[in-house]
Amino acid sequence: MVSHSQSLKPALDAIGKAIDQRFDRLIPVPEDSRARLYEAMRHAAIGGGKRMRPLLVVAACDLFHVDRERALRVAIAIECIHVYSLIHDDLPCMDDDDMRRGKPTVHKAFDEATAVLAGDSLHALAFEVLADEATHEDPFARLELITALATASGPAGMAGGQMMDLVAEHELYDIIGVTRLQQLKTGALIGFCLEAGAIMGRIPDSQRTPLHGYARDLGLAFQIADDLLDVEGSAEKAGKALRKDEAAGKATFVSLLGVERARTQARMLIDQAIEHLASFGEEADLLRAIARFAIERDR
Ligand code: IPE
Ligand code: IPE
Ligand code: MG
Ligand code: MG
Ligand code: MG
Repeated sequence: MVSHSQSLKPALDAIGKAIDQRFDRLIPVPEDSRARLYEAMRHAAIGGGKRMRPLLVVAACDLFHVDRERALRVAIAIECIHVYSLIHDDLPCMDDDDMRRGKPTVHKAFDEATAVLAGDSLHALAFEVLADEATHEDPFARLELITALATASGPAGMAGGQMMDLVAEHELYDIIGVTRLQQLKTGALIGFCLEAGAIMGRIPDSQRTPLHGYARDLGLAFQIADDLLDVEGSAEKAGKALRKDEAAGKATFVSLLGVERARTQARMLIDQAIEHLASFGEEADLLRAIARFAIERDR
């Protein structure tokens, strides 16, 4: 049987290439003493990762016939934020990891201070890309993108979720607490990807409900899959160290529900995510395939 993940492979390969090319152009190494910083940014941003968030942006933009080059600018912006979050997540003061995307983490390949600055720089770069006229001719659309990404990245989004994750011990969180943690840590940035499609297409708020529902369920299922991989996956395939959550005593869906119920929950969420797209036709098939991929993946 051909799995859904395999059917998504051409789309993932294509977005991977498109993102690598654009990062290569966006981060040229200067011939001065900042070279090391740019090298570190390139090390983290180019060559690796599933690029699922960029693909989500492009798929959401396709629903509303957004120009592909512009969609790719938003895709680059969200990947900048994601990569920055990974660089900082791997630091010794956070998860203390040596491998990411099959390569040494930035603080291992370079040093901690450079890793902090590479993360800072990618964070800033994301907003610089969004603010540029080339992203959208309407300044209101650009402002909406910037606001949405800032909210999704900050204390009410990813950074807040990372804080909750740092103090995530079994005793501290029940299912509701872990759900909230994961919605912030992972869900918020995934939510931005869908929102961005609607913003780029100038779709009114009242018509965004299906995308919000899809993003919410996908985000949760995606993080459950990450937690399941941490327990059951292959570090070689994942390109990062696994079996870390239990060792750290972290509350996750898997620690609270067990492997089987967590898997069932993830499948249910994905079915539900796809149901939210019922009002769309085949133009939403890519979003449906990404949803299935999110829990079938092995990395
Ligand atoms: C890993 O994200 C961190 C989480 C938010 C779970 P991904 O699994 O998307 O990592 P890459 O981009 O493919 O490396
Ligand atoms: C990291 O979550 C999420 C963010 C970077 C926002 P994890 O710590 O579970 O991610 P991995 O497992 O290291 O990729
Ligand atoms: Mg972490
Ligand atoms: Mg980590
Ligand atoms: Mg993890």
